[in-house]
Amino acid sequence: MNILLTGGAGYIGSHTYVALLEAGYTPVILDNFSNSHPAVLGRLQRVTDRQVLCETGDVRDTAFVQDVLRKHSIQAVIHLAGDKAVGESVANPLKYYFNNLGGAISLMQAMQAVDCKVLVFSSSATVYGDPASVPIAEHFPRSHTNPYGHTKLVIEDMLAAQSAARPDWKVAVLRYFNPVGAHACGLIGEDPAGIPNNLMPYISRVALGQLPFLEVFGGDYPTPDGTGVRDYIHVCDLAEGHVAAVRAMLGGSSGMQVNLGTGRGYSVLEVVRAFEQASGRTVRHRIAPRRPGDVAQCYANPGLARQQLGWQARRTLEQMCADAWRWQSGNPNGYRDDA
Ligand code: NAD
Ligand code: UFG
Repeated sequence: MNILLTGGAGYIGSHTYVALLEAGYTPVILDNFSNSHPAVLGRLQRVTDRQVLCETGDVRDTAFVQDVLRKHSIQAVIHLAGDKAVGESVANPLKYYFNNLGGAISLMQAMQAVDCKVLVFSSSATVYGDPASVPIAEHFPRSHTNPYGHTKLVIEDMLAAQSAARPDWKVAVLRYFNPVGAHACGLIGEDPAGIPNNLMPYISRVALGQLPFLEVFGGDYPTPDGTGVRDYIHVCDLAEGHVAAVRAMLGGSSGMQVNLGTGRGYSVLEVVRAFEQASGRTVRHRIAPRRPGDVAQCYANPGLARQQLGWQARRTLEQMCADAWRWQSGNPNGYRDDA
């Protein structure tokens, strides 16, 4: 069964590609490589020992997406393509509204035109804004604090409206918490351009000596050690969550909105210590002012995903750190060293 992966060359998409193949599906990547490197395709071929199916183009090009859906007889789409940097979305909101909303609308129009009705969407825990309490359940109020978060919220609403108008559409909205780590083979992983915004890739580069030290954003949060608490989830667990969602949607589920998290929060300092243990390196760090827009704690109630998808995260923080380190130390320049 053929599954289209928009944004399949990116961090989460490349891991989802491997998980889909392992589960017996045939994934087809659609990507414009605006935030990924074509070398990932060669890596995916090495990991899976199979020719990689990839269509290069923009998801906002509706005619192109229609052609791809028809050409590959696509049964379901996992929509990961989009821009994701919170700070950039504040500085350049139109880029985010154009790419994220434009991409989702174009994709849904193309799907409607060819009568493809199964869609799994990459949403984010960011739709919960600053939650009133933790763990966060799916019925919690949604809000947004930046244009990136706003695009996720609006796309969720567009999908709900489309499902209401077309009850034969099957839509799964997956709200990711904090994906980290890499495939255990060490050949694929997170490869942010420039200086990383996110904690784990930043720590990896400090451990490698590419960055001098980590700034811990805030040491005075109302958390056990004063630093921010997040629900870090291994990217391979997340990838398996997508497979479970595709299986459920193709198996007759009418649709869902679920958290993909572990249900366990770790502080920044706990992650630093776990990474030091996994890498055998020191991660120099110092407490810095809070980062604007950050919340103190964010972790999931993962019960609904367990119930509706029969899925739960299995990998530990130690594995997340070990796998992130294997990837980063084996590929200090990410995919850029490949031809
Ligand atoms: P990523 O940037 O590594 O992957 C996104 C991919 O989409 C890239 O390969 C990029 O080239 C491609 N792309 C972007 N715009 C496109 C377009 N118009 N047409 C075709 N391809 C396009 O990001 P990721 O971390 O893999 O995230 C994937 C999805 O998951 C995103 O929608 C993101 O918002 C969401 N998400 C990510 C996180 C996270 O922490 N990584 C958390 C929550 C949600
Ligand atoms: N942090 C630091 N120093 C850094 C980077 C991060 O102390 O250099 C801290 C943050 O303050 C936060 C924690 O590490 O407490 C995690 O920060 P990340 O930037 O890695 O992740 P966020 O929780 O801020 O956000 C991420 C994605 C969002 C997504 C959200 C979902 O970047 O796109 O997870 O929960 F919406």
